Amino acid sequence: MPEVVAIYPGSFDPLTNGHVDIIQRGSRLFDRIIVSVLVNLEKRPLFTVHERVDIARGVFKALSNVEVDTFDGLLVDYAGSRHAKVIVKGLRAVSDFEYEMQMALMNRRLNQDVETVFMMPAEPYTYVSSRLVKEVVALGGSVTGLVPATVEALLREKKLARETLRA
Ligand code: PNS
Repeated sequence: MPEVVAIYPGSFDPLTNGHVDIIQRGSRLFDRIIVSVLVNLEKRPLFTVHERVDIARGVFKALSNVEVDTFDGLLVDYAGSRHAKVIVKGLRAVSDFEYEMQMALMNRRLNQDVETVFMMPAEPYTYVSSRLVKEVVALGGSVTGLVPATVEALLREKKLARETLRA
C-alpha cells in the first residue's frame, strides 16, 4: 500500500496550540503529515519563515511522521510535488466554513487528485487564532496554554524588543 501523505498548510504566524492539536490528530490518521509554511512575500509577518519553521520543528521533534517544510505558489502544485493526496485544514467554527469551502472547491478544480479533509480542534482551542494571540500579547495579556512555550517566549521577546526600540 502506498503511504498516504497529507499537507497541513498555513502561515503559522505564529503556531498555536490549535494548530498543534490538528497536526497531532493528523499524524495519527495519515502515514505522514507535512506542516507547510507559506512563504508570503506580500504579508508582513511577525515571525520570519525561518523562525516559524524552527518553532514547528522543535515542537514536533518527537513525532517522526511530522515534517516541516516551506512552500510558495499554488498549494495543489506544491502538494503534487510532495506526492500528497490530502490537504488537511482545521475548522474552528461555522465562520471558518465559507472561506474554507471556497478554497477546497477551487483546489479540487485545480487538481482532482488532491482531497481536502477538515478536522476539528479540541474545544479549548476553537477560539484561538494567530491574529488574536499576537494582539493579546501586544496589549500585555497572557496567552499561556494557547501557544507552545517557545512561541510564548518569542512573543514576549519581540514585544520587549519593540518597546526598547520605541523608548
Ligand atoms: O494560515 P492561513 O494564512 O489561513 O493559510 C492560508 C493558506 C496558506 C492555506 C492559503 O493562503 C493557500 O493555500 N495559499 C497558497 C496559494 C493558493 O494555492 N491559492 C489558491 C487556493 S484556493
